[in-house]
Parts: sequence; structure tokens; C-alpha cells
Amino acid sequence: MAGIRWPPEDSEMLPPRPPTTADLFSDDDRSVAADSWSIKSEYGSTLDDEQRHVDAAEVLAGGNFAAAASDYSSDKDEPDASEVETSMLGFQSYWNASYAEDLVNFHEHGHAGEIWFGVEVMGTVATWTKNLCENMSQGRNVADDSNFKYESSEAFKDLSSCSVLDIGTGNGLLLQELAKQGFSDLTGTDYSEGAISLARNLAIRDGFPQISFLVDDVLETKLDRKFHVVMDKGTLDAIGLHPDGPVKRIMYWESVSNLVAPGGILVITSCNNTKDELLQEVENFNKRRRTAEELDQEAGSGPAVFAYLDHVRSYPTIMFGGVEGSRVCTVAFLRN
Ligand SMILES: C[S@@+](CC[C@H](N)C(=O)[O-])C[C@H]1O[C@@H](n2cnc3c(N)ncnc32)[C@H](O)[C@@H]1O
Repeated sequence: MAGIRWPPEDSEMLPPRPPTTADLFSDDDRSVAADSWSIKSEYGSTLDDEQRHVDAAEVLAGGNFAAAASDYSSDKDEPDASEVETSMLGFQSYWNASYAEDLVNFHEHGHAGEIWFGVEVMGTVATWTKNLCENMSQGRNVADDSNFKYESSEAFKDLSSCSVLDIGTGNGLLLQELAKQGFSDLTGTDYSEGAISLARNLAIRDGFPQISFLVDDVLETKLDRKFHVVMDKGTLDAIGLHPDGPVKRIMYWESVSNLVAPGGILVITSCNNTKDELLQEVENFNKRRRTAEELDQEAGSGPAVFAYLDHVRSYPTIMFGGVEGSRVCTVAFLRN
């Protein structure tokens, strides 16, 4: 897998580069942390959840992932599921401890905690998403690729009727930004109870009591509702940093495809993946879905798949090894 690329450390808004598990965990600690991943305080594990994990592991073991990975046209080393870099940020125990500290800081000093990727990126993601949704609701062609046959979305008429879910919401500040842009049906989820408590406290303090927050693990989601817009800022990155990152990423796409309403969009902001890598990951997911559909004669309206819509172009770029790229990318995918 491509190396982990974190944003620069010169911005005071950005968290420091995370240590890797190899640096910080003894073997014993690692197995405790890994156990804490599978023992969910809120819901407990269900047979369905375990089955999803088994299914994703089978996809990897069956070579689909390896085959799909070899399709990468990136100039980087070919991704190898056995060489995924891991970090403490892949563990729920890390986030629980981190948000427990943030909550103390909030109560003692009123601090909001980390703004991942910085204030500017957060503002860009919010305004860019608003513009995209407005254009979609007004029937404009929002597709970057002129060959893509975009059919105007009837999913929502305006921002106030557009439901938004932010997965791995952390302190929930992105949802506050979206509220300022005119969205009103806003929900944030995170598997860390501390994050949800912090996000609720901040939303009330800052005058956004209408934003809903609930504890939910996106890989084993208990949400039975679909949303017009699903936001992810740094959550897929964190999920991919778990030692079982490749399996969990497969579970992620399965789960998220059930959370986005038909005609709705998924907006991912990542610093660990380039736009092209995300596009490839989506293509791999689509292939798996279509294959499963062919096998399932009973299936009716076709599998839920994603198509690339557009990406943010305004992030500053850097040159590295003769290649130009951004430290952060934000990409929108349309669900069929
Ligand atoms: C890098 S932080 C980003 C937080 C927030 N989105 C932001 O931009 O400030 C990653 C977040 O994802 C959450 N997270 C990681 N894995 C998750 C999962 N499986 N389900 C729900 N939340 C998860 C973590 O608790 C953490 O809040």
C-alpha cells in the first residue's frame, strides 16, 4: 500500500504526525488494542457484523483485492495488502483516550480539540459541498468528466431538504460549518462516545442544537436511514491505519453504500490517499458489487455502486519526486 502521507506539521491546526503501532505498542498492547476493536462498548458484536468481517476477509483471501490492486496505474509501488502501514490512529482505544482528554480540555478551557487538515480545508469542504449540492438540486451537470451521463438528481430540492451524515464526525465542527452554509438536516456519528459527547457540547455551546449526534461504528452501522450526502473527513484514513485496514476498507465501502440514498453523494476528504487511489478503490468496490449481483439471481434494481463526480481543485499542490500533487484531496462520488 502506498506510504502514509500526513499533512505538514508546520500548521498549528494540524495534529502531529502519528506514531506507528510498531513504535508504540508492545505485542501485548497490540493484542489488547486489537481486541478492543472487536469489543464494541455500545452495541456488542452481532453475528451479522462478524459475517461482514468474514466476507471482507474472504474477498481479500480470494485474491480479488490483489487482482484489483494490480490494476493501479499510479506511479507508486504496487499496493500490497500485507505491507499496510499501521498506526495507533487505527484503534478505537486511541480515539477513546484522545477524546477523553479533549473533553477535559473542553470543560476546563472551552477548547474544541483538533480540526483535522486545518480550518481552511474544513471551510473549503463545506462551501464546495454546498455548491455541489445546489448545482445538483438545480439540475446542472456537476460531473467533471464530460463523457459521464449525469442525470440531474431528484434526490433533494434544496439545501434544507438535503440530509447530511458525517461519519467519524469527531468534534462535529464540519457539521457546524455545513449548518452555516444552509444545511439543516445534519447528523454526526462516531464510534467513540467521547467524540459524540464533545460534539454535542460544542454544538450546543456554539448555537447549533439542531445537529443530531449518535454513537455508531460505520463498519457495523445500526443506522437504518439513508442520507442525500455522506461526508467523511479523515475517517477512511483512520480505518485504513488499523492492522486489518484492507479488510476494514472493504467493509467500509459495503456499509457506506447502504448509507447514501440513490442519487445522493459521498464526499471523502483524505490525506492518506490520492484522488486516483480513491477512484481505483471505488472501481474495485463496483466490480465486487457487480460480480455479487451476477451471482445473485434474485437481485432486483441493480447493485449500489458509485461514480466519480468531481473533486476540489483549490488545495495547494507540492512537487515530490517530479510529480505534482496535493497533501489533501476531497472527492465526491455519486451513488446510482
Ligand atoms: C482523523 S479523525 C477525523 C475527525 C473528524 N471527521 C474531523 O475531520 O475532524 C477520524 C475519526 O474517525 C472516527 N472513527 C474511526 N473509525 C471509525 C469507525 N469505524 N466508525 C466510526 N467512527 C470512526 C474516530 O473516532 C475519529 O473521530
